[in-house]
Amino acid sequence: MTEIAELTPDGVAQQPRALRIRLVVNGNEVERTIEPRITLAELLREHLLLTGTKLSCEVQVCGVCTVLVDRRPVSSCTFLAADADGCAVTTVEGLASAGELHPLQEAFVDKMAAQCGFCTPGFLMMALALLEENPHPTREQIAEHLDGNICRCTGYAPILEAVESVAGITP
Ligand code: FES
Ligand code: FES
Repeated sequence: MTEIAELTPDGVAQQPRALRIRLVVNGNEVERTIEPRITLAELLREHLLLTGTKLSCEVQVCGVCTVLVDRRPVSSCTFLAADADGCAVTTVEGLASAGELHPLQEAFVDKMAAQCGFCTPGFLMMALALLEENPHPTREQIAEHLDGNICRCTGYAPILEAVESVAGITP
């Protein structure tokens, strides 16, 4: 990370007003100059136009903004973009490959686990993090892992069934 500081007339360095960061987003190298205060969600949505990542509570309560940073799920609404410097970030736009939906996306379609769809990117990224760490979680482990994500439409059962189907659990 490069700090771009300004000097006072006396030649004293002030707090940096801009940072140069480099990261990899969905496999693509990205380099941007940003204000130190901006969140990863702002970087993704406003600078990179990756609007699949949603924003709602913006206080790390609803899970809708979840993305992976170095394969770990984070709430991008409160995660500073500067802290993603040097990291690999995966968003919902990075799930499909060569025109094919990711198995989790297929399962959400098959099980009708998305209605309005606003919460879906967050659930997909959180579920992906779980399945990468534990490809065959129990139903209880899935429910526990997803309990920080809020959905107002589905009643949760179809979401659990979708993740279970990818995990090889037959309800
Ligand atoms: S918008 Fe980030 S947790 Fe709700
Ligand atoms: S599908 Fe509408 S909030 Fe979850």
